[in-house]
Amino acid sequence: MRALIVYESMYGNTRKIAEAVARGLGDGSEVQVVPVGDAAEVDPSDWDLLIVGGPTHAHGMTRGTSRDAAAEAAAKPGSGLTMEPAADAGGLREWLDSLGRRAGNAAAFDTRIDAAAFLTGRASKGIGRKLEHSGFTLVAEPESFLVTSHNELVADEEERARAWGGRLASGVGGRPASPGPVAD
Ligand SMILES: Cc1cc2nc3c(=O)[nH]c(=O)nc-3n(C[C@H](O)[C@H](O)[C@H](O)COP(=O)(O)O)c2cc1C
Repeated sequence: MRALIVYESMYGNTRKIAEAVARGLGDGSEVQVVPVGDAAEVDPSDWDLLIVGGPTHAHGMTRGTSRDAAAEAAAKPGSGLTMEPAADAGGLREWLDSLGRRAGNAAAFDTRIDAAAFLTGRASKGIGRKLEHSGFTLVAEPESFLVTSHNELVADEEERARAWGGRLASGVGGRPASPGPVAD
């Protein structure tokens, strides 16, 4: 199976989850993990499975203003937060809006604060909706991976992401290959 993982990450947690999902897809899969800032260089229709994940900001996907707020929070003395090198290279919302009509198998995940989802919101819902709007078929329910209020991954979330990747691989392994892009 060939899988493309496109992620957005300000502080590195979503990148770590993306890398754990990639490990879970298994040795039998060809996997490319790409920060959203580099996603314009790959064709997301060219894979058996597209997996897209990003941080939850203000109950949904990031926006320019929330990314600025994330950078300001990291710049505060003693924040303990380190910005990812490509954190200022654009967001998933903008990339997903640029996709146009596509087809293929996809899955969505987010990272969010460890609290009830109705309080925190979930970026993966919006990511999934935009993927479906572009014509992708979601092969799994959007999934959340949890961080503490100090922006550290909750214990065992990388292992849970690896297991989620394994389930995606076994689910998509039996599906027909992506039919490729469709015309409007
Ligand atoms: C500006 C901003 C807004 C946020 N809003 C939310 C929110 O509404 N719900 C939530 O669960 N987490 C929220 N968070 C926490 C992020 O979800 C968390 O920082 C992110 O999952 C960490 O992923 P990253 O390390 O890949 O950036 C917010 C963080 C920032 C910086």
